[in-house]
Order: sequence, then structure tokens, then C-alpha cells
Amino acid sequence: MHIVENKSLKSYNTFSIDAIANHFVSVNSIQDLKAVLNLEGYPEKLILGGGSNMLLTKDQESLVIHVNIKGISVISEDDRFAIVKANAGENWHEFVLFCLEHNLGGVENLSLIPGNVGTAPIQNIGAYGVELKDSFVSCEAISLETMSIDTFSKNDCKFGYRDSIFKNEGKGKYIVTSVTFKLSKQNHKLHINYGTISNQLGVMHITEPTIQEVSKAVISIRESKLPNPKDIGNSGSFFKNPVVSKAKYESLITNFSDIPSYTISENEIKIPAGWLIEKAGFKGKRFGACGVHKKQALVLVNYGGAKGSEILELSKLIQKTVDIIFGIFIEAEVNIL
Ligand code: EPU
Repeated sequence: MHIVENKSLKSYNTFSIDAIANHFVSVNSIQDLKAVLNLEGYPEKLILGGGSNMLLTKDQESLVIHVNIKGISVISEDDRFAIVKANAGENWHEFVLFCLEHNLGGVENLSLIPGNVGTAPIQNIGAYGVELKDSFVSCEAISLETMSIDTFSKNDCKFGYRDSIFKNEGKGKYIVTSVTFKLSKQNHKLHINYGTISNQLGVMHITEPTIQEVSKAVISIRESKLPNPKDIGNSGSFFKNPVVSKAKYESLITNFSDIPSYTISENEIKIPAGWLIEKAGFKGKRFGACGVHKKQALVLVNYGGAKGSEILELSKLIQKTVDIIFGIFIEAEVNIL
């Protein structure tokens, strides 16, 4: 464990923003993490996982703690299910690959999501009709107030759409150190009704897919639409899909008859932010070193050398324009730091 001064965070955030951490430390055990948290002289701390859901708009004066605690283990199993615990520093997609290799079902639709296991519960990652919460049993997290390791059940986490206790009342109070999942060993419950997945399986001529084939379908959809952060810096969806009232939706369809929508409840309709941004004319537009991805308007990209503040400005311009045209405020999904 070694504190490094003036460390570039470029390779630690998927937007590839070259912000500097005045003090940086990578920890690979709970002991080291506790020791770092107990250090005097660093009142402000920033916890870094896979860096896939953040926009660094400035150099960081706080102590940046990179949580790199590895390890995946099967805790218990019977004929039907396995209980698997993964430590926070495991790369999310590598965890999915571990599950597929061991024929464990439940996370295949979440293939190729950037980021680490420890940050997955914070925003309840989700894709193609499945969310983390569907296979989540519990997580362990260090309380920054008491230094104890607390266990959070699914109920405790208060999961919602891209939301959990860790983004609300628990914000800044805990560091997730591990997540425990319940995964199926047989009779896997597949989620293939999400339009693009069934189309893709059709293209692949697969009628009775395995979990490995569902994962392959998800990977090819994601690769065709979403930029790989290794090639073009990005943070996945920059905005959340907004939820509007039924009355608001009805007033929108009088002007925009082709507006896509998903009914959430009797009075709540979700509108794809990607559609709103595309209609507002931003899809594929480049602004200096940053821009809006040409295949998915929800994704902002760094073509190389963009500053976080430029991407933030672009996001504000998009929010303002969408608000003027549709009267809808689209909230950022990424953490602005
Ligand atoms: N659309 C457009 N133009 C665009 C993009 C989308 O018109 O440029 C419209 C289309 O009507 C399309 C619909 O939006 O049918 C939905 O698009 P898509 O299936 O790509 O899903 P999304 O709602 O844009 C969400 C998640 C993604 C996740 C996909 C698939 C959020 C904020 N984003 O995107 O998550 O991969 O569904 O489940 O909920 C992420 O969080 O980083 C992420 C990539």
C-alpha cells in the first residue's frame, strides 16, 4: 500500500479524462482499505471502482482510493442454485464470464457492462430487461462512520431504476466491499423478450438459447450500438430515461406522434432519452474533442483529449435543448466530480 502524489486518473475512468489525483492509493484487501481510511491528514476521500460511471471535471484534491479487492467464491450450493460472493474490485464482465463458465444463470443479460462488481449495486446496473437486483442477495460495505462491515439485504438496498440507498441516504457513507448473488444451476430463467435480444437470437438462428448464447446475443447488440471505452472514451448512458405523467405523455404525442414509450405504472410513462436527444438534433454531432455517439444518442464520447468540463458543458446544452423542445428535464446518470 503506497500513496502516490499527482497521479493521472486517465486509465482509471472509462471517459479517459486526464484529471490528476493529488493523492492516490490502490488497496487490495479490506485490511489495507481500513488502514487507509484511518490515515490522518486526508479528510476528503474519493472512492474509485471501475471508473465507468463518472465524469471528472477537475483535478481531485481528495485522497483517491482505488478499491481493487479481488476474489470470487461459491459460498454454498444445492442442485438448483449457487450462492456466489464476488469482491468489489472484480471487473463486472469478468464476473459474468465466471458465471457463464460455471453455467450459473442470472447475469447473462448484463454481459459487457463496464465497471466493477462493487459499484454495480450503487446504481443497480441494468440492461435488456434484467437488473442487478434480480440476482442480488446482499452486499457488505464498510461504514465510514464506524469502520464496521455492515451487511445490506436486498430490501436494505432500496433498489430502483439506476438507484439504491447508496445514491440517497447512504451516499458517501459506505464503501461496498463484496456482493453476494443467487444464481441458477439448471432450468435457467431466460429473459429474451426484450425486442432486440429476440431479434438477435433469430439472426443467430437460435431457437432454444443457453445462457451462454443469450450472453453472445447481448454482446453483439452492445458492440453494434455502444462504443468500446478502449477505443472511444465514454461512460455508457450519460442520462437516465425520464419518467413522465400520463397527461404529459398525452400532450407530447399530439406534437410527436412517433415518440416511443414504456408504461411503468398507471400514471408513469418512461421515454427513451436517446430518442429525445436524437430528435433534438444532437445524435452523431461533434463539439471539439467530445460529442454525441452516432449510434446511441444517450452516450457522450471523448474523441481524445476532451476535458471533463467540456463534456459537462455539452451535457448542459443537451439538457437545455431537450427541455425547451419537449418540456422534459433529462437527469445525468453519471456522477459529476
Ligand atoms: N432511441 C433513439 N435514438 C437513439 C437511442 C435510442 O431513438 O439514439 C430510442 C429507440 O426508440 C430505441 C429506444 O430508444 O428503441 C431504446 O433504446 P435502447 O434499447 O438502446 O435502450 P435505452 O433506453 O436507450 C437503456 C439503458 C442502457 C441499456 C439499454 C438496453 C438507461 C439510461 N440506459 O438504454 O444502459 O444498455 O437500455 O437495456 O436506462 C447504461 O446504463 O450505461 C446503458 C448503456
